[in-house]
Amino acid sequence: MKSISNENIIFKDKKVLLRVDLNVPMKNGSITESSRIEKIIPTIKRLLAKEAKIIIISHIGRPKGQIIEGMSLKPISKKLSSLLNKDVLFYKNIINDNTLSEVNKMQNGSIMMLENIRFNQGEETNNIEFSKKLSNLGDIYVNDAFSCSHRAHASVEGITKYIPSYFGLQITQEIEALKRITSEITKPVSLVIGGSKISTKISIINNLAKKFDNIIIVGGMANTMLKHTGYKIGKSICENDCGSLIKEILEISKKFNCRIVCPIDVVVSKSIEGAGKIKDIKEINDDEIILDIGPKTILEIKKIINDSNTVLWNGPAGYFENPNFQAGTKEILEIIAQKTINDKIFSVAGGGETVAAINKFKKFDSFTFVSTAGGAFLEFLEGKTLPGIKALNQNV
Ligand code: 3PG
Repeated sequence: MKSISNENIIFKDKKVLLRVDLNVPMKNGSITESSRIEKIIPTIKRLLAKEAKIIIISHIGRPKGQIIEGMSLKPISKKLSSLLNKDVLFYKNIINDNTLSEVNKMQNGSIMMLENIRFNQGEETNNIEFSKKLSNLGDIYVNDAFSCSHRAHASVEGITKYIPSYFGLQITQEIEALKRITSEITKPVSLVIGGSKISTKISIINNLAKKFDNIIIVGGMANTMLKHTGYKIGKSICENDCGSLIKEILEISKKFNCRIVCPIDVVVSKSIEGAGKIKDIKEINDDEIILDIGPKTILEIKKIINDSNTVLWNGPAGYFENPNFQAGTKEILEIIAQKTINDKIFSVAGGGETVAAINKFKKFDSFTFVSTAGGAFLEFLEGKTLPGIKALNQNV
């Protein structure tokens, strides 16, 4: 991989176009969660130490080529400046004929952040002219935005055709970690997968069933599995017409000797705000909703994780927002965290809701790697080639 960690690359006097993902959650103009900003610091520090001129490119939201006031990167440039304790110039216009002359005024070791790149019409359409115009602003391009690399956009893909391009430190770390759960696995390997819809995760399950020893299905997805295998699930969330999809999962897992594990007991209630009651999956009443996995299932998961050397977790086990239904998610987190700390297993977690649960139960440091990427993380697990990564590999 062509990484910026290569000592032979000269950054001094060079304008480095650095694509990062600063798409952070905001409320009333304030940043509510800043881990994506913190994660880019090592790459910035490395480039500063090498006396580069850093031009930061990023996006927030999906403005689709329109200038939308609430989607400005200005507050993020201020936050970055305070984290670095250093000035971060902010270029408030979209890319125009004046941008290059502003960029050319930069000194070595200075930073400029461009306004939301998605305000420009050619960004999301991966327009050739726009990609060229963008590349003309710099001497070197660095992609440190794994979480945007599933988008064939100008600042992710198109630009690499016109300028020497490299992997940043964060994206390199992310790819290395994900390889260890997709291609360079230490077995036995287990996946705990949850969330509400099985149809959105079918490609992940089918791809990983070819390599994994165990796939443990929890959360709303498990309801769909249970219903289609003959159980009554009352009023629980579930997808209909998934018969052929489930048949496919069962066939592939059988062919590749992967064990599919579903809950044997659950916690039910009559409403999501209510109290929980533990039940065997054969005993669910018509007016009950499954909201968590039960203690026997947790024990089974514990055994499987104990026998694993590699564990991947994506998706909560229940409605953890209500403390009455958080035990499954919390226990799975505990088991993986303990195993990671004591036995040094390789553990990876990722996905929006998963990261929210990790934050809630303060387990961020208990995984070998936590991916903050959403769609890109899922597409990588599906076995897809991400356009941003392919483009960097093809750039010579
Ligand atoms: C993300 O938050 O996953 C990335 O910033 C990509 O955003 P997008 O889904 O709007 O392309």
